[in-house]
Amino acid sequence: MLPCTKLMDTLLSVDGLDVRFRGHRRSVHAAKSVSFDIARGEFFGLVGESGSGKSVTSLSLTRLLPFDAEVSVSGSALYHGRGKVRPVDLLSCPEDELMQVRRSGISYVFQDPVEALNPYLPIGDQMRRLLRHLGTEKPIDRHSRYLLERVRIDDARRVLASYPRELSGGMCQRVAIAFALASEPQLIVADEPTTDLDVIVRNTVLDLLRDLVGELSLSIILITHDMGVVRHYCDSIAVMNRGEIVERGSVMQVFTQPQTDYTRMLLDSVPRIRSEATT
Ligand SMILES: Nc1ncnc2c1ncn2[C@@H]1O[C@H](COP(=O)(O)OP(=O)(O)OP(=O)(O)O)[C@@H](O)[C@H]1O
Ligand SMILES: [Mg+2]
Repeated sequence: MLPCTKLMDTLLSVDGLDVRFRGHRRSVHAAKSVSFDIARGEFFGLVGESGSGKSVTSLSLTRLLPFDAEVSVSGSALYHGRGKVRPVDLLSCPEDELMQVRRSGISYVFQDPVEALNPYLPIGDQMRRLLRHLGTEKPIDRHSRYLLERVRIDDARRVLASYPRELSGGMCQRVAIAFALASEPQLIVADEPTTDLDVIVRNTVLDLLRDLVGELSLSIILITHDMGVVRHYCDSIAVMNRGEIVERGSVMQVFTQPQTDYTRMLLDSVPRIRSEATT
C-alpha cells in the first residue's frame, strides 16, 4: 500500500465522468459518473469484464474518443501538471492546453504493439519522427538509444535498424513503451498491454512498468481483466461494471475485504494454483 503522504500528492482527479454514445439504433451509457484519483508514483489498476467501460474511461481523459461517434462527455478530470500552479480540466480546457498534456503529460500503451507501430518504417525512423514531432532538443540518435535502453533493450542499435515484423511481440511492446516515454510523461495509461503476450514476456513487461514507476516517479493506469496481475503489481484498484465504478481502494483492502458480489466474482476468477494442485 502507498504511504498516505504519497497518496495526498494527487496527479489526476477524475470526478463524475459520464460518457454516452448516441447511435441510430441504441445509445450506450459507457461511463456513469466515474470518479477516482491517481497519486504521483501510483500504480493504479482499472479492472472489469469486457465492455465495462475501462477503455472509454481512459480515452476520455485526453478526449481521444472517435470523432465519428456521437459522443457526449461530462464531468471533470483535473490534471496537476509539472510546475503548474493550477490543475487543468482535461475535459473542458482549450485545445492548446490539451495538446500540451498529450505531448508531455499523458501517454498511452495499447494492447497490440505491432499494430501500434508503423510496419513500413524501421523503429529508428519512427523514433526520430516522434522525437522531432515532440520538439526534443536532445541529440536524436543518442536519445533514441537512451529510450530503448531505459526499457531494458540491450542491443538498441539493432532494434533501431529493425522493422517491427523483425521483432518479437514482447520486444515491440518494449519499443511502444519507449515511444510512450519519449514525451517524458507523468502518467502512462496502459490498456491491456500484455494481453497478447505469453506469461513470461508478460511478467517482464509488467516488471518493467513497475520499475519505471520507481525510477521516473511515473504514475500508471493499468487496464486489465487479470486480477492476479493487479494483486501483484498495483497499489490501488478500481473495479468497473457496466460503466460504473463499483469498488475502489488499496489492493490490500479490496482483495481482503471486497465490498461487492461483482468484485468477489472477479476475485474468484484468480487461479488458485496451490489449492488446485493439492486436490
Ligand atoms: N465508438 C463507440 N461507439 C459506440 N459505443 C461504443 C464505442 N466505443 C465503446 N462503446 C461501447 O461502450 C461500452 C464500453 O466499451 P469499452 O471499450 O470501454 O469496454 P472495455 O471495458 O474496455 O472492454 P474490453 O475489456 O473488451 O476492452 C461498450 O458497450 C462498447 O460497446
Ligand atoms: Mg478495452
